[in-house]
Amino acid sequence: MTEGELRAFFEELHRHPELAMEEKRTTGLVENALKRAGIAVLPSGLPTGLIAVLPGAKPGRVIGLRADMDALPIQEESGLDYASQEAGKMHACGHDFHTACMLGAALLIKERERELAGTVKIVFQPAEETAAGGRVVAAQEALQDVNEFYACHTYPGFPAGTLGIKPGPVMAAPDRFMIRIQGRGAHAGNPHLGRDPIPAAAALALSAQTLVSRYKDAFEPAVLSITHVQAGETWNVVPQEALLEGTLRTLNEGLRREMIARLNDLAQSTAQGFGCTAETEWEIGPGPVINDEALCAFAAQTAARLGFAVGVQDNTMGGEDFSEYLKRCPGVFIRVGTGGGYSNHHPMFTADPAALWPAAQFFAELALRRACADTQ
Ligand code: NI
Repeated sequence: MTEGELRAFFEELHRHPELAMEEKRTTGLVENALKRAGIAVLPSGLPTGLIAVLPGAKPGRVIGLRADMDALPIQEESGLDYASQEAGKMHACGHDFHTACMLGAALLIKERERELAGTVKIVFQPAEETAAGGRVVAAQEALQDVNEFYACHTYPGFPAGTLGIKPGPVMAAPDRFMIRIQGRGAHAGNPHLGRDPIPAAAALALSAQTLVSRYKDAFEPAVLSITHVQAGETWNVVPQEALLEGTLRTLNEGLRREMIARLNDLAQSTAQGFGCTAETEWEIGPGPVINDEALCAFAAQTAARLGFAVGVQDNTMGGEDFSEYLKRCPGVFIRVGTGGGYSNHHPMFTADPAALWPAAQFFAELALRRACADTQ
């Protein structure tokens, strides 16, 4: 595959984005390209997404490369000549770039397979945006022997030609909570005959922030955002129930557990103080993404050898289910500078295609070098 062909493949994915768990066409395009190059696809039983394998000529280690494939329910406003043709769907997080990048890496490794000592497994993962894909794919039997995992992610903060490689935590654990405060409905003229859940919800929305500002160590990052408040239907009725929904973001498993327990307690005690009750439901997301320090140093050295500038990306409390792969082995989540000027998930987001071919070369080189590296 040439640079021009890889770019055309990326543009084709961009024109036809598919949402989480609907990535059938994308999976088919990747599978065809792999098969045309003689690269084996492992049987997985996944409805969308796939795992490709490149066994080397000599024994060595097993290196995993991971790309996510899904798009977002956003109407594209980029004005690109290869903009989305699917109404209300857009590759606004660059997962089309990731898929093309790792396909390119697979094809480049295939061309150099005689050099390969070890095995490279390439994961094309569905449903990153809903955090539903990583858990299922990482649990696949075929991936249990992987020694190290690497992922790429577009990054508007750096221009093409720069990679962001940062040791330690780089993405947060995104947990979702829903707090239902149960009161007792009444006529708004006689509130004393009911138990109004709205003052309880309002008090909790404010006091919950003290878990971040007063409870935890200031040097441990955490974000608690209440993003959805709902109660009542009209002006003259005290409602029965109030709902608070939001997200907790942490970088540390211990703090994560403590903050969850503290919010549960605070919700209950606050509601009780207003004569109401509270129930907190959690949707526990993937863990924080923590980059391995030694592997970061190796990746940065490889990047420099290939002529990349290496930077340290800004911190974010966004979530990423790449952490599912890092539960079993170390790895690095690498930011690929793709310029463009708009943040990921913005309707004007673009990923500079000039970054694509060099990124594919980088991941191919990294996998080839890591497969034959001494076990650490
Ligand atoms: Ni993304």
